[in-house]
Amino acid sequence: MFAQEIGIDLGSANTVVVAKRKGIIAREPSVVAINRNTQAVVAVGAEAHRMIGRTPDTIMSAHPVRGGVISDMEQSTALLRHVMRKIAGSRWLRPRVIMTMQTSASELERHALAEAAIQAGAGEVLMVEETVAAGLGAGLPVDRPVGSLLVDIGSGTTNIAVISLGGVVVSASAPVAGDQLDEVVARYIKREFSLLIGSPTAERVKVEVGAALPGRTASTMIVGRHMTTGNPCQVQVGAAGVYEAMAESLTQIDLAVQSVLERTPPELMADISRSGIVLTGGGSMMTGMAERMSQVTGLAVRLAESPQESVAIGTAVVLEHPNRINLYRVKPARRGKK
Ligand SMILES: Nc1ncnc2c1ncn2[C@@H]1O[C@H](COP(=O)(O)OP(=O)(O)OP(=O)(O)O)[C@@H](O)[C@H]1O
Ligand SMILES: [Mg+2]
Repeated sequence: MFAQEIGIDLGSANTVVVAKRKGIIAREPSVVAINRNTQAVVAVGAEAHRMIGRTPDTIMSAHPVRGGVISDMEQSTALLRHVMRKIAGSRWLRPRVIMTMQTSASELERHALAEAAIQAGAGEVLMVEETVAAGLGAGLPVDRPVGSLLVDIGSGTTNIAVISLGGVVVSASAPVAGDQLDEVVARYIKREFSLLIGSPTAERVKVEVGAALPGRTASTMIVGRHMTTGNPCQVQVGAAGVYEAMAESLTQIDLAVQSVLERTPPELMADISRSGIVLTGGGSMMTGMAERMSQVTGLAVRLAESPQESVAIGTAVVLEHPNRINLYRVKPARRGKK
């Protein structure tokens, strides 16, 4: 018997945890702050996120998950331990954990995920493909013999999958998502205004004035450091320039979606032409994203109800319907205490 059963979406930007019958119990940025000298973890989650771009030389902020896979085991374990501790009363009982993994993840990467969870206190780890979980969380009939097309635009990667009978039939993963959009926005502001900004400011510009289609008229005020004078400098950034800067990256997302459609078997294609595309992930909340996807594919496109939480909600569905677990069991990691 396990005292607790939880689901974890360990994302590149955000980690979301659900507990059986409790819903979402934790939502933290996937960030840790490290003391450079001792390598000790000094802050985790929201507290570490507030430190980005504001740390003294002795402290650095790090993202333990990159492109949807673990890039640093110790930091990932610290992050998981932090969010798992939020389960009241489970301090001494090791929970059974459903984790999500990318379809394209290697054996080594899957093992690293499970290992980090076990080290953080999990008793048993089961894995679910991220797009399958996202589909379940978005209410798609992923366990039926019907094709569904899911596009998850996260921070590190955009994952696209045609799902049927609980499995991924055709998929693509592009390293183009929220992070890359932040980078191109920061590069544009440097080029256009000779202004240096940190990634939180670039992200704010993207969210406030970014759009997946041209024609938005919004603008926002930002403060950065002028490259030549070194002084603080304030500029007004408009949507048109931001769109231009992001256009190439947005096209890469279009191409990845088209590559999946090109490889989709005809019967499933017929299903998808009826049901359309469902978007999940924080990047899908960009103004005009659903409309863009619809223009590119000619299909109806709908945004999931809670795009950033769909994957975690999907793991909660698996917890609630253990009879479905076999369908989604990819690699049980039977290490540690059972
Ligand atoms: N309204 C918005 N417009 C554009 N982008 C947004 C918006 N809201 C959030 N985002 C972006 O969504 C991204 C985070 O999404 P999400 O939480 O789904 O990522 P993740 O699951 O942690 O990453 P991944 O799935 O790649 O590992 C960030 O890049 C953030 O800037
Ligand atoms: Mg994600």
